[in-house]
Amino acid sequence: MTYETIEVRQLTPLIGAEIGGVDMRDPPDNQTFQAIHDAWMEHQVIFFRDQDITLEQQKDFGRRFGELAIHPAAPGPEGHPEIFVLHADENSKFVEGNAWHTDVSCDEKPPLGSLLHLHTVPPVGGDTLFASTYAAYDDLSADMKTYLDGKLAIHDGEHVYRGRYAYQGIDDSGRTYPHAEHPVVRTHPVTGRKGLFVNTGFTVQIKDLPQRESRAVLDFLYDHIAQPKYQCRFKWAPNSVAMWDNRCVQHFAMWDYFPATRSGNRVTLEGDKPF
Ligand code: SIN
Repeated sequence: MTYETIEVRQLTPLIGAEIGGVDMRDPPDNQTFQAIHDAWMEHQVIFFRDQDITLEQQKDFGRRFGELAIHPAAPGPEGHPEIFVLHADENSKFVEGNAWHTDVSCDEKPPLGSLLHLHTVPPVGGDTLFASTYAAYDDLSADMKTYLDGKLAIHDGEHVYRGRYAYQGIDDSGRTYPHAEHPVVRTHPVTGRKGLFVNTGFTVQIKDLPQRESRAVLDFLYDHIAQPKYQCRFKWAPNSVAMWDNRCVQHFAMWDYFPATRSGNRVTLEGDKPF
């Protein structure tokens, strides 16, 4: 595809592109918005540099692409419930996203995409890896595609979120976390392409399979999706932004920079029921 109002530099043949010619401090006009959206759909995860934006500007930019979701567990900063803060430093016991996952896939309607802005990055490390679940699906044998066709997977938030934010003073006793069943192979509502939709973070079982068989199939799929040939890897700088499509991308935030600080904010876009 050619783009008139923005620059698009592909990172790999299968996934990822860096976008130039966008200033998120000003809302994009319709033509530029459409070009960004087209590039996003084509490359699945897109990256922007030098975006010195406020929380309001980040939220406004996100809203061009959909309603903003509120995280089921993590508290937002005062006055910004839609903001998911990512912060790691020398006191951190864990970091967000340090395993292959799609965001909040335990939701009945998982978020369609996420937009992460980092204002502080470590001197080295802290990359994020992104994997195309389209490419992983396309590469499966016809027999495996037939086997997976119509299967549902169970996704659960309980084991991920229970007590996770106690260190921020969040008492979640009495709270219930999302639980949902989604097709193992989902069809993207915009592109019509098929992609694998199981992940190590939230998926607990393939429905109606014996536990051992489910484990073996899930482990195979996780191993398959994690092959480097389906990936791109993003090196952050202060004020970089990554925008990924959770319907066809998994990501992994590399925590190789302890005790350095890495910090920023994410907005997440409401999605619809996978089919
Ligand atoms: C996440 O949103 O899951 C974390 C991504 C990152 O920190 O790079």
